[in-house]
Amino acid sequence: MDHLKVAIGSDHGGFRYKESIIDYLKMRDIEYTDVGTYTPESCDYPEIARKVAALVTSGKVDRGILVCGTGIGMSIAANKVHGIRAALCSDTYSARVSRAHNNANILCIGERVIGEHLALDITDIWLKTGFEGGRHKRRVDIIE
Ligand code: RB5
Repeated sequence: MDHLKVAIGSDHGGFRYKESIIDYLKMRDIEYTDVGTYTPESCDYPEIARKVAALVTSGKVDRGILVCGTGIGMSIAANKVHGIRAALCSDTYSARVSRAHNNANILCIGERVIGEHLALDITDIWLKTGFEGGRHKRRVDIIE
């Protein structure tokens, strides 16, 4: 995780977990950009997804994390952006394999779906896991 740069964002539905994940990133000394939202007021998740996706595709950050109520809206919006492979994860196995096999570059989490500690475990595993390449690279290349 050394020198990994991360962009993170949420709507109001994911605001609390975004703040917890930021605490985790600080604890691990991971450089991050918080694109908002900055208050629990209602806002539109596609705008946030677009900002994080742009930071990832421009290469300004290595990976992105998006949180909303279900994680679904964020993943749909982020995956509209060419070059984004956003994985909605509610378990640690999917988090690991989304990196190892799919080279996912954005992690999506649903605050209303999973517990906070599970969300933090998923984040930890997702950030630590590398892409295996090989036959998986061929498949990811087909997507691109
Ligand atoms: C907001 O109420 C909610 O729709 C949003 O956080 C997300 O779950 C959308 O997919």
